Amino acid sequence: MQTSMDRGTVLDDLMSDRRSIRGFRPDPVSQPLLDHIFATAQQAPSNCNVQPWVVHVVSGAAAENLRSVLHATAASGEALTPDFPLTGGYEGAYRTRQIDAAKALFAATGVQREDIEARRDSFLRNFRFFDAPHAAFLFMPEWAGWREAADCGMYAQSLMLALTAHGLGSCAQGALSHHAALVRRELGVSEDLRLMFGIAFGYEDPAHPANAARTVRAPLAETTLFHD
Ligand SMILES: Cc1cc2nc3c(=O)[nH]c(=O)nc-3n(C[C@H](O)[C@H](O)[C@H](O)COP(=O)(O)O)c2cc1C
Repeated sequence: MQTSMDRGTVLDDLMSDRRSIRGFRPDPVSQPLLDHIFATAQQAPSNCNVQPWVVHVVSGAAAENLRSVLHATAASGEALTPDFPLTGGYEGAYRTRQIDAAKALFAATGVQREDIEARRDSFLRNFRFFDAPHAAFLFMPEWAGWREAADCGMYAQSLMLALTAHGLGSCAQGALSHHAALVRRELGVSEDLRLMFGIAFGYEDPAHPANAARTVRAPLAETTLFHD
């Protein structure tokens, strides 16, 4: 019988095994496994159990079409249409962490900081879902606010852990919300749903250089205070 210690170890392993995967094999995930994983993610908690997430998953021809339209749009420099203001102007410790994460990715892929063209190409890979066979687009209704956004975050991490548990890699991608109006149009999503971000997923290509990137976390004392 599994003890609570075993169960804790399982979660510890899943938490540390999950990392952003940015290079995938083309093999699709079977529909029964997709059904199972998305049903598991559905167990995520939410304020008053409202479950504000609406998830559109693209595979096969739908994924190919969306990646090519998104990539072409992003490459053309067309104006962004995000439903939520973009963040990124971080300061202090937040900025340091952001730079460290970018450095880890560039070091893994051999992109030089001053090579604007290579950095652009690296960023544009986002819009091809890093060649993942699937991508999930997370929407929430237009009435939803900060609390429901947090619910969607819990859903997203639940989904990524479930993917990890089944041997799949994933990468949450704010970039996939940059052209929200286009995604809605291509997928026939109603205007009253707001796009938060996307998650590319599939089987990891272990040989892809981007997958060698590793990030670290701040020491516990920097983020977490215990009060007696
Ligand atoms: C909501 C969200 C949006 C993100 N957007 C992007 C993105 O657009 N492109 C990207 O390459 N990584 C993106 N990431 C991945 C983060 O860069 C990554 O989670 C962070 O650097 C920690 O690394 P790890 O996931 O490997 O632990 C995003 C992560 C989250 C949670």
